Amino acid sequence: MLRHRVLYSEKEIASRVLELADQLARDLPSARPLLIGLLTGSFVFLADLVRALARKQVEPRVDFMAVAHYGAATESTGAVQIHKGLAVNVAGEVVLLVDDILDSGFTLRAVKDFVQAQGPAWLRSCVLLDKPSRRAIDLQADYVGFQVPDVWIIGYGLDKGGEGRALPYIAAIEPETQE
Ligand code: IMP
Ligand code: MG
Repeated sequence: MLRHRVLYSEKEIASRVLELADQLARDLPSARPLLIGLLTGSFVFLADLVRALARKQVEPRVDFMAVAHYGAATESTGAVQIHKGLAVNVAGEVVLLVDDILDSGFTLRAVKDFVQAQGPAWLRSCVLLDKPSRRAIDLQADYVGFQVPDVWIIGYGLDKGGEGRALPYIAAIEPETQE
């Protein structure tokens, strides 16, 4: 396992997820919204969020998209490729995009544009983590779990080269193990 230190414990995450669900239950203009998770990192957060929402009488439907930046050249241009699109029609729907972490912002912007083009009735974004110091474009998430500094995060769905996703807490990679 990669050397890491805990930033947010299971307990802290659970209570923050409940707070987000509270806020969302008040804001969502439908008790049957569509939550779109961005694979792979968001799957743990999304799983907890939908159950927290269900306790608030909001029962989301769920779909997933998979997107990726392609190659070093796209780091600057922000070109994003969609590997897996939506199975459901979002036209006229109340949609919440759910991602693990907002970094440069390219991923969320591309997905937002893609979904917006299909005419949802309402579209907002919710990210577990926000790394504002890394932002390359002017974009904010509507709902944010925690702000984190510019360190590589693993745990609670987030990985580094496939490692660390199953950790039940949010942790920062220790500098010694960074390339
Ligand atoms: P963006 O397009 O730069 O905002 O990239 C966001 C995506 O990069 C996230 O959905 C994550 O999959 C990944 N990512 C960015 N920072 C981290 C991190 O610290 N740990 C794990 N994944 C990260
Ligand atoms: Mg991701």
